[in-house]
Amino acid sequence: MSARGHAFGIDIGGSGVKGAAVDLDTGLITHDRIKIATPQPATPKAVAEAVAELVDQAGWDGPVGLTMPAVVLDGHARTAANIDPSWIGTDARALFTEALGGRTVSVLNDADAAGLAEDRYGAAKDLDGLTILLTFGTGIGSALLYNGTLVPNSELGHLTIDGVETEHLAAASVKDRLGLTYPEWAERVSTVLGTLEALFWPKVFVAGGGISRDHEQWIPLLTNRTPVIPAVLKNTAGIVGAAMAVAAGLTP
Ligand code: BGC
Repeated sequence: MSARGHAFGIDIGGSGVKGAAVDLDTGLITHDRIKIATPQPATPKAVAEAVAELVDQAGWDGPVGLTMPAVVLDGHARTAANIDPSWIGTDARALFTEALGGRTVSVLNDADAAGLAEDRYGAAKDLDGLTILLTFGTGIGSALLYNGTLVPNSELGHLTIDGVETEHLAAASVKDRLGLTYPEWAERVSTVLGTLEALFWPKVFVAGGGISRDHEQWIPLLTNRTPVIPAVLKNTAGIVGAAMAVAAGLTP
């Protein structure tokens, strides 16, 4: 099936490939997410097969937007985080177009997709100016949005502070790995946000990723200047943003 005002979004992550149809008026998914374990190794061929299986299970025959933990330029993956390195240089758009029988697809970075979704339907929906969304997970993903327009592939998780990449300093996985308390981790996040706000002067930061569910435990501890608000779409943000991207014909 496919339906007017709807598109299908798929979020490809290190552990799961998740997808659902999205109502683009509301930003809500229209049925439970379908999840398939990410094949290991997560090579382009294996992931394309999982994507085709997921879309088949959903019985969806319309356009499909996809997100990946990678820089995506002109449809090509240029980096690969938590997926097989053989993605680097792969024409992901052509691969998925073929795997999905020639239909329209759009491929973009996972954090960029989450940013699009939070900016239109979620935490930043009534805000103008520059919004920076950061996803705190295994790494740190980022999305820059100015009045709803995405500047793709910002990769702020790789900005270095005193020679250390921000995602090595303050990803949620670092908190787990080093056994940091929320106050200890929040200090690191404040350093990252303080550096970013001195460079970009956003009006707001949106904090996403699984750890944003516990936002009461750490957002109040942050000491940087710019307001930080928690993401609201939680685990559907990537799916919703992917669907938005294909509906808008976005080709980062
Ligand atoms: C990658 C980004 C990705 C982020 C979140 C980073 O390590 O470089 O492309 O958006 O992780 O998955």
